[in-house]
Order: sequence, then structure tokens, then C-alpha cells
Amino acid sequence: MVLMADCLFLIQNSEYSNQINQFMNLDKHSTVAVIGAGTMGTGIAQIASTFGHHVYLFDISTEQLKQSEEGLVKILNRQVEKERMTQDEVDGILSRITFTNNLDSIEGSNLVIEAIVENLDIKQGTFQKIEKLVDENAILASNTSSLSIASISSSLNHPERFLGIHFFNPAPLMKLVEIIPGISTSPESTKSARSLIDAWGKTTVQAKDTPGFIVNRVARPFYGEALRIYEEGVADHATIDWAMKELGGFKMGPFELMDLIGHDVNYKVTESVFKEFYYDPRFKPSFAQKRLVEAGRLGRKTGVGFYDYREDAQKSEPNKDRKLGENVLNRILAMLINEAADAVFMNVASVEDVDLAMTNGVNYPRGLLKWADEIGIETVYHWMNTLQVEYREDRYRPNPLLKRKYKNEETFYGNI
Ligand SMILES: NC(=O)c1ccc[n+]([C@@H]2O[C@H](COP(=O)([O-])OP(=O)(O)OC[C@H]3O[C@@H](n4cnc5c(N)ncnc54)[C@H](O)[C@@H]3O)[C@@H](O)[C@H]2O)c1
Repeated sequence: MVLMADCLFLIQNSEYSNQINQFMNLDKHSTVAVIGAGTMGTGIAQIASTFGHHVYLFDISTEQLKQSEEGLVKILNRQVEKERMTQDEVDGILSRITFTNNLDSIEGSNLVIEAIVENLDIKQGTFQKIEKLVDENAILASNTSSLSIASISSSLNHPERFLGIHFFNPAPLMKLVEIIPGISTSPESTKSARSLIDAWGKTTVQAKDTPGFIVNRVARPFYGEALRIYEEGVADHATIDWAMKELGGFKMGPFELMDLIGHDVNYKVTESVFKEFYYDPRFKPSFAQKRLVEAGRLGRKTGVGFYDYREDAQKSEPNKDRKLGENVLNRILAMLINEAADAVFMNVASVEDVDLAMTNGVNYPRGLLKWADEIGIETVYHWMNTLQVEYREDRYRPNPLLKRKYKNEETFYGNI
């Protein structure tokens, strides 16, 4: 009875409703604070200022603030040289950003986006300070890639106005932004934040607060299954890359991409997703990649990864056997589609949002679930089933939603 009375009080409480209305009012005139002037923070500040917001870009390091400002001036001047922007536009963008190492200056902000070091304690401590400074109606967000929104929000007095707003690198160029409400986030603050990011010209998708959100979860087999095929000796790295690009239409092969991202970074993400999923074998990291990290062969940044980028190095040539290439492509694609189906099955995101995320966040040539419909659910299910029968490993279990679609003769998008 007491509980029911509390609920009614909350619904009828006018202060609470006013707060909700305020959440809906984010627009061009809202002040935005970005916390952390590194790679992501600088990019997010650029986007917000380009849209017309006044932006406070805060960092604890004055050296970093200087680098951020100099980097931004360089990028924007290049836009003028290429006649993509006028000098007036660039001057406007720069004049709207206040670079600051004084956190107090963000007090009038309506939206705060945090992009500091990926460390839970530091993020929680920072949000505790932010919450004391800004108005109670301000929306607070984290750009975290691997921490849960719930864990960061636990440090806040008002977790209902806190959510994940996950940009991709480079933020000004990548269209996709994942919007992640935590278990305590109010629907109003999610809606308000999402409408604003849409207005910034981004493609937003909504994801449940689960490890890797959409992109960093669904993309795991692109690396993981490629590495497994390589470790089994089915094909070498150049052949796998050739198959994925030439036959699959991917812009980069998995090994080229891992070399570019850096094996230290890619391995850490895989390891973290594996742990977060309670060691589900679908996400198992690979020894081949671990050894590269241990040997310091981190990819392009150290001159050697799977490929050798040093001068006079011998080029890796693929085996262009079409049948081998198709086997490689179909195996990786089956695992990617299976993972995309699992994200829908576990209500992480909708069919449409999973496809939008993969085409806009990592530039896949087609949405994976649309692709499954085109290939035929029966064929994809057959690929997965064959792998499971052959290996008898839980890693290859066909997703129940894929199986259900196959049994009911349904597609992900209805008739195609
Ligand atoms: N780099 C990416 O590809 C990428 C993509 C999406 C999301 N993210 C996430 O964005 C966040 C930032 O990543 P990044 O690559 O921009 O990192 P970065 O290392 O380039 O920048 C982090 C910045 O935070 C500053 N900083 C550290 N502690 C601080 C504090 N207590 N207060 C204020 N500033 C502080 C550092 O001085 C640095 O400038 C992380 O949570 C990361 O997971 C990164």
C-alpha cells in the first residue's frame, strides 16, 4: 500500500513532470560540455560546435587542451583549403568552443558528454563532481566503449538523466551513434538526447546496456572467425582478406583491419567482451593474436603485424582459389549473421538498428540480416549447422532466432 502511494506521488508530482519537460528541451541553444579533449572528445566538440552549440571542452591536462585546439584548427583549415567550408564558418566553430582546464566553467551546461580515459573509478569520480556543478535538468552521458552504463550511473544521485552516447572514431566522419539507456535512465532523457544527436546529422540506433552494445559485439566474428580459420591453417591471412574484400565486398579484410586498429587494442576489446559474456566460446580470443601482442608486433604502428610494412618487405600474396575463398567468406559471414541474430534475439536492438549499426559504424557492404534474407535463411542456417556438426563446439551453435526463422520459413524483413 505504501509502495502504491509512493508511485502515485511520483506520477502526480509536478516538480518531476517539469523536470521531464526540461529534458525535452535540448536544442541548438543548449550549452554542451565535453569532458576529455583526446581523440573522441575533440571530435565530439567539433560536431556540437558545428551544429551551433556553445561548447566547453574540458581536460585535466593543459598540454592535451593545446594539442586538441591545434589539431582542430589544422583539420578545419584543411576544410577551407578544400573549399568545403568558408573561413567564416571555421571561425564560428572555433569561437564557440571554450577550451578549459577549470571544471567549474561547465556549470551552465545542458548536456555533458564524457570522453575521458576508460577507467570506471575515474569516470565515476568525474561524474560525481559534474553532478554537483550542473543544473538538475542537465543530461549526462558517457562515450564509454566497454564499461556498463549501469556501473557508471551507480555513482550518481540522479541516474535517470544519465545514458550512453557512443560515437565512433573519427567522430565527425562516422555517421553512427549508439544510444544506450541504462536500467535507471528515464525514457524522456533518452528521447531528448537521441533527438539532439539526430539533429546533429547522425544516424542513431538504440542498444541495450550489454557488453559491446551493438557494433563491438556483432563485429567480433569478423576478427575471431578469421583468426580461427588462420589458426587451423585453412587459409593464410592474405587469402582470407582477399576473400572478404573481393568476394564479400568488405572495404578491408580482417587482418588488414586488425593491423590498422593495433593488435593490443583489438585483443583487449576481444578479451573484455569474452570476460563480460562469462567466457562464452563464441567470443574466445586467439593465441595467434596474443602472440603478436606479446612480441610487440602490433600492426601498422610498429611496422609489423600479420603483414610486414617495413621497406623492402616481401608482399603477402593471396591464394585466389574461388572455392577456398567462398568457404572462408561463407564461414565468417555465417558467424556474423548468427551474432546479429543473437543481438535481436536477446533484445539488444531491433533488426533495422542492427543492420544500420553495422553499415554505418563499421561500413559493412550490407546489413547482415538483410544479407541473410537475400542469401536465404535456410542456407545460412545450413552453414551454421554444418559447422556445429563438424566441430561439436558451443561456439558454433545456431542462434535460436535463426533456427526459428528457418523452421517457420520466415525472413528477418518479411517478404523480399
Ligand atoms: N578511440 C576510439 O576509437 C573510441 C571510440 C569510441 C569510444 N571511445 C571511448 O571514448 C573515451 C575516450 O577515448 P579516447 O580514445 O578519446 O581517449 P584519449 O586517450 O585520446 O583521450 C582521453 C582524454 O581524457 C583526459 N583525461 C583523463 N582523465 C581525465 C579526467 N579525470 N578529467 C578530464 N580529462 C581526463 C586525458 O587527458 C585525455 O586527453 C573512452 O571511454 C573510450 O572507450 C573511444
